[in-house]
Amino acid sequence: MTEKQKEILQRTSDRIKSLTKLSGELLDLSKIESGLINQEREELDLIALIKGQAEFYRDKADAKSILLTVKETKKEIHMMGNRINIEEVVSNLISNAIRYSPSGGQITVWADEKSDCTKIVVSDTGFGIEKKELEHIFKRFFRVKNETTRYINGTGLGLAIVKSIVEAHHGTIEVESEVGKGTCFSIYFPKSEYKI
Ligand SMILES: Nc1ncnc2c1ncn2[C@@H]1O[C@H](COP(=O)(O)OP(=O)(O)O)[C@@H](O)[C@H]1O
Ligand SMILES: [Mg+2]
Repeated sequence: MTEKQKEILQRTSDRIKSLTKLSGELLDLSKIESGLINQEREELDLIALIKGQAEFYRDKADAKSILLTVKETKKEIHMMGNRINIEEVVSNLISNAIRYSPSGGQITVWADEKSDCTKIVVSDTGFGIEKKELEHIFKRFFRVKNETTRYINGTGLGLAIVKSIVEAHHGTIEVESEVGKGTCFSIYFPKSEYKI
């Protein structure tokens, strides 16, 4: 194959991957919004779940020299939820934290519980998000466009999916961010909404 042919194949393959991701994400959103996921709940251990997701992203973080750690809190934290969907929430947040951080950053993930709620936090030392953009980031297809983010690919659907899943589990999501310092997403699931 010539260099030119290789380049065309590479571009075609990248395009197919991003279209597959887009259709997968659109399907996820419509499934969640149709309320179907509520029928498939099971008892989850959030500690095991976030550790599994952190391990899944270990190579990607290493490749950018990002230190990805799961903070020790409790040995196990149980809640009722849809496994695939809660994994998707954590996966999206860690993947964003890696993609929107420069190399050498730090990402800390943890879960914790109080008497009335269970919490998941993903915190990074990445690019951060300007105040005026923060209120839009959970909207479908919204992506921040500036010099740091323009070369990073994405569909703008990830956080819309995260928010729909959290709300389908009666939870709430909050974000705090400072440009040049980092971003922290916190999710709260009230215990009154699920009994184990
Ligand atoms: N951890 C983060 N740090 C900085 N910016 C972020 C972070 N997570 C999300 N963003 C911003 O929010 C936008 C929307 O995120 P998302 O819905 O996951 O879409 P995508 O990652 O496909 O662009 C991103 O394009 C990015 O600008
Ligand atoms: Mg994303």
